Amino acid sequence: MKSQFFTSIGIFAASAFAQAVIDSGTGFGTYYYDIEQVEACGTSFANQNLGFVECNFSTGLSLNEIDSNYLVAMNHTQIAGNLAEYCGKRVVVTVNGVKSDLPLFIGDGCQRCGTGSRTNTVWNPNGAPGLDFSYTVLSELNSNACFAGHIDISWEIVDETLYDFDTNAPGQPTGPVIQRRSVSQRSERATRRRR
Ligand SMILES: *[C@@H]1O[C@H](CO)[C@@H](O)[C@H](O)[C@H]1NC(C)=O
Ligand SMILES: *[C@@H]1O[C@H](CO)[C@@H](O)[C@H](O)[C@H]1NC(C)=O
Repeated sequence: MKSQFFTSIGIFAASAFAQAVIDSGTGFGTYYYDIEQVEACGTSFANQNLGFVECNFSTGLSLNEIDSNYLVAMNHTQIAGNLAEYCGKRVVVTVNGVKSDLPLFIGDGCQRCGTGSRTNTVWNPNGAPGLDFSYTVLSELNSNACFAGHIDISWEIVDETLYDFDTNAPGQPTGPVIQRRSVSQRSERATRRRR
């Protein structure tokens, strides 16, 4: 137990941040939308992309408006009453033992991912644990995504906010945290130049 504790400290020390894990699991990854490849794998995502995401709370944001393939949907039952806890948080996904460093963030609820038991290990399109991704991201995680339709994954949701959602009505600003920071840095530089 103790040596395990020190091992994980070592792993955290090697990365930039020590991030608390707020959820983790094992299950299946699927795809349901795509902002860049609207037609792919014999499917059109045009209608899916118009859908409002569960994390919008009061603002009515669609996938198209969020305009990022890094948005991920999780267990709908779990996120429904806890939007503020999960929305916008980074998701670290592991496929075949490889931890992805894509900037994935929770933004939506997935019905299939919230139906049935959390410990179910058998794929069932109507209910199995896991996450739902953009087609582009699922293909990056596993090149077999189109053919297989679902892939084996494990995941950790960590306490790092990548996207600000308006989960607390009314009307907080929304948007990618990193992008907004760089925009304000840009205007700060512009202000300094003007002085
Ligand atoms: C998202 O926005 C739409 C349109 O404003 C609204 O009807 C819906 O209730 C919102 N969803 C959530 C979970 O806030
Ligand atoms: C989804 O979340 C609920 C509430 O936390 C939990 O009871 C259920 O087992 C989860 N289902 C799956 C498939 O992960």
